[in-house]
Amino acid sequence: MPRRPSYLPDKARAQDFSRRLRRWFRRNSRDLPWRRTRDPYRVLVSELMLQQTQVSRVVEFYGKFLKRFPTIHRLAAAAPRRVMESWEGLGYYARARNLHKLARQVTADGGNGALSAVPGELQKLPGIGAYTAGAVASFAHEKRAALVDTNVARVLSRVFAPKLNPKRPADLKKLWVVAAAVLPRTGAATWTHNQAVMELGALVCTARVMRCAACPLTTVCLTFATATRR
Ligand code: ADE
Repeated sequence: MPRRPSYLPDKARAQDFSRRLRRWFRRNSRDLPWRRTRDPYRVLVSELMLQQTQVSRVVEFYGKFLKRFPTIHRLAAAAPRRVMESWEGLGYYARARNLHKLARQVTADGGNGALSAVPGELQKLPGIGAYTAGAVASFAHEKRAALVDTNVARVLSRVFAPKLNPKRPADLKKLWVVAAAVLPRTGAATWTHNQAVMELGALVCTARVMRCAACPLTTVCLTFATATRR
């Protein structure tokens, strides 16, 4: 048997991590509009908006955008100018251009506008990278798919692999392996797990401060163990 690399937790530790995280999420998460839907289009819109924009600002614009373009078909039928107008205030307009292009692509030639549940398929669409593909698969379709963005990479590296640097592409690749290794067994639990890692990164284990006193993962966390060893 090949030896497990040092950055990968064993099964018991992975399970402990996910269970603690999900229990914490059920008690502490914010009620955000995109957590109340499983509609792939709505999930996709939220994830694209959240990529470079603060949650509070996205909350302001998300409902308005979906009121104007309630389905992927309605978005596809809209004039590019109208889509750009609705993106005003969010910036980084490439996201809106790609979203519009994607909507037109999946509805073209009688296409039904469905978004795949398979990350590899989603990644073929305009503007969809590995993170967004994992987000649509797990948050809309409740598939057992991993996702890593800046927040997730920070949490996973602090807990399991303090020596990995998420800014190094080779290390980021390893963090994707960690993210996949710590997923719970079912797709439904994966929805909660992935939301919970992001929520912990936003509220507790932030880039600026580590609020370890409020963290459910201190018993599993290598960074905490090192900082408190004496
Ligand atoms: N940032 C990206 N995706 C998010 C989500 N689902 N909830 C909160 N913040 C996020």
